[in-house]
Amino acid sequence: MKLVAGPSSIEFASKIAKELGTDFIKIEHKFFPDKENYIRVPGQVKDEKVVLVQGMHPPQDVHLVQTLLAIDTLIDLGAESVELVSPYIAYARQDRRFLEGEAVSFMTILKTFHKLGLKKLYTVNIHCPWIIPESPLAIVDLRAENVLAKHLEKCGLSNPVIVSVGKRGLDMARMVAEVLKVEYTAARSERDKVSGMVKVELDGIPGKEVVIVDDIISTGGTMIELIKQLKNKGFTKIFATCIHALLVNNADEKIFKAGAERLIASDTVPNKYAEFTVTSLIAQTLKKELDV
Ligand code: R5P
Repeated sequence: MKLVAGPSSIEFASKIAKELGTDFIKIEHKFFPDKENYIRVPGQVKDEKVVLVQGMHPPQDVHLVQTLLAIDTLIDLGAESVELVSPYIAYARQDRRFLEGEAVSFMTILKTFHKLGLKKLYTVNIHCPWIIPESPLAIVDLRAENVLAKHLEKCGLSNPVIVSVGKRGLDMARMVAEVLKVEYTAARSERDKVSGMVKVELDGIPGKEVVIVDDIISTGGTMIELIKQLKNKGFTKIFATCIHALLVNNADEKIFKAGAERLIASDTVPNKYAEFTVTSLIAQTLKKELDV
């Protein structure tokens, strides 16, 4: 197996390489003067089973183009197979046609990867697990709830309630709560299909400490709505946690202003609240899947 670090994930790939006890090829990257991407693979990949590590966090479109160039180049250079580790996969929230005529962007990306010859995609807490059976490409969706829960065990909480949003959120809350042996629930949510504004509705729950778990914090709108309701219900200690911390438009500041005491995220997206890592989860999975 040959590990290859894409331009967006050099540090992340180096951690995986360390866990696997292997070296890695670092893709050379620069921008042409007009900002187009240039990449070069400075190493031998012929007849190798290649694992490319390249996250698709912001700037998503730049990282997506780099991913396409890297996959195609690795195959063209004679790799036996190419698999992609993308801890955060962009466009997964546009997984269906919400309004007539919209692009189903995530399916377009999966089809493109498949047509290029990508064999498998490994990602973490995919936003739309229901798409996996329909995907033209094999997807391994690694779940980081256990890693988050193990981290929360060390955070000095006392019998917190775990709260999330929606059906997928309920599943996430349950997985975290089972490790911590505490209660859990999920709020109902509705997002306006045009404005993107979200409304959440949370039933009464008893407690003083709460951990909100979500797969993504993007604008922070969902998290802030929940925090406000929890404050009104008398919760005094509120932790906002997620796997993918996109935190666009100063979402972190707004979350603290709304009343969160702490913001905890993983390192699937580079961010300053990354208190736990998913690299061991990925390395262990690669070991099993690729028999290394
Ligand atoms: C919703 O389905 C997700 O679990 C997240 O709650 C949502 O994507 C977060 O987006 P934002 O931070 O913009 O509210």
